[in-house]
Amino acid sequence: MIYEDSLDFAESLDREDPLASFREQFNFPREKNGQSPVYLCGNSLGLQPKLAADLVQTELEKWKDLAVDGHFQSERPWVNYHQHATDGFAELTGAKPGEVVAMNTLTVNLHLLMASFYRPTPERRKIIIEAGAFPSDQYAAASQIRLRGFDPESDLLEWQPRPGEMHLRLEDLEAMLDHEGSSVALLLLPGVQYYTGQVLDMRAICELGRLHGCKVGLDLAHAIGNVALELNAWAPDFASWCTYKYLNAGPGAIAGAFVHETHRSPDDFLHGWWGNKQSTRFAMRPKFEPAEGAEAWQMSNPPILSLAPVIASLQLFRQAGLEGLRNKSAMLTGYMHWLIETRFGDRIGNITPTDARGCQLSLVVKDASTDARTLFDRLCERNVTGDWRNPDVIRVAPAPLYNSFVDVFDFAERLSDALDA
Ligand SMILES: Cc1ncc(COP(=O)(O)O)c(C=O)c1O
Repeated sequence: MIYEDSLDFAESLDREDPLASFREQFNFPREKNGQSPVYLCGNSLGLQPKLAADLVQTELEKWKDLAVDGHFQSERPWVNYHQHATDGFAELTGAKPGEVVAMNTLTVNLHLLMASFYRPTPERRKIIIEAGAFPSDQYAAASQIRLRGFDPESDLLEWQPRPGEMHLRLEDLEAMLDHEGSSVALLLLPGVQYYTGQVLDMRAICELGRLHGCKVGLDLAHAIGNVALELNAWAPDFASWCTYKYLNAGPGAIAGAFVHETHRSPDDFLHGWWGNKQSTRFAMRPKFEPAEGAEAWQMSNPPILSLAPVIASLQLFRQAGLEGLRNKSAMLTGYMHWLIETRFGDRIGNITPTDARGCQLSLVVKDASTDARTLFDRLCERNVTGDWRNPDVIRVAPAPLYNSFVDVFDFAERLSDALDA
């Protein structure tokens, strides 16, 4: 793609964009200091789909008009409301419908899934995460190790980038596993690293895990709705994702989980009544009868008001199609990268690997005369929403479902202004 640094060019790309109309289906934040929003924070909290309010309102009305009868006698009965997310999740993750379920929140799911798939023995007890993992994953893994009577100081291993490098190399994970794979119980790794935006080779990670007899769990918080996934084929043992980032389901919205079909009838996992098969769930028997597949991991009846926006959002994703979104995303992020390099190459760098990225670019300031945090604050004053990640990264992520090429161009204009302020 040959890019040009002009508003006309950005507008022409928007005119040719087959997904451009989806932008109108979202609410954008307000003007600030007389400037329209340039929202580039879908990697943290996606914008609100207009449909979300409609679907939440429908459930509020049902509760008002039908009360308890909403569970069974309504258009989308609450008893299986979570299943309206199943096909959308399966499509976005390349899973079979029986392998995915909407439930809980991400960290809770990681714990529940580790309760099943992290079964350490004195010989095989370690967990590998990536260096600089999102803190919640780090805390979750360390606390699981402690809970099972082992010591995270020695048993939580980190896959590190090489000195002077930012990105994780697969051959280094391979070397770690060659060296001590027989003591590793679980690889708990992200699909997309939250800080650098690096997309990891999930297929290869799953293969390596299998080769060394380790279980594999993937945190897909930054991957779902962003990059193509083939979970059934790659076959991690489990995965989980939140839905408030690229899936635009709202703050703290209900998350998703995947359990590979090979674990269809597990022996050991934590039971709750919603994991009992639906046909006998209300028979109120003392003996648990698991649902088929991932649904067996459910615990409680799900919060319907938090599920409704997930269903709204998945509807939009299904209309747009992930392949088209990926194509647009490569162009949008490519355009942003090109503009930054062309205009500010000596002042602003980018630590996201060009050959392994989704929407996100993680920007760093190169020239000593500019303080990165000050620059970030100036961008906020100009109504650019990205996010700051300590110690020194500004993350920006044009989301192909609602961002335009003009957004990307405006970002470059405001960055220019902020750098010169
Ligand atoms: C990679 C990653 N893991 C875990 C979490 C924690 O998510 P939750 O608060 O939904 O448990 C986040 C949240 O942003 C995240 O980015």
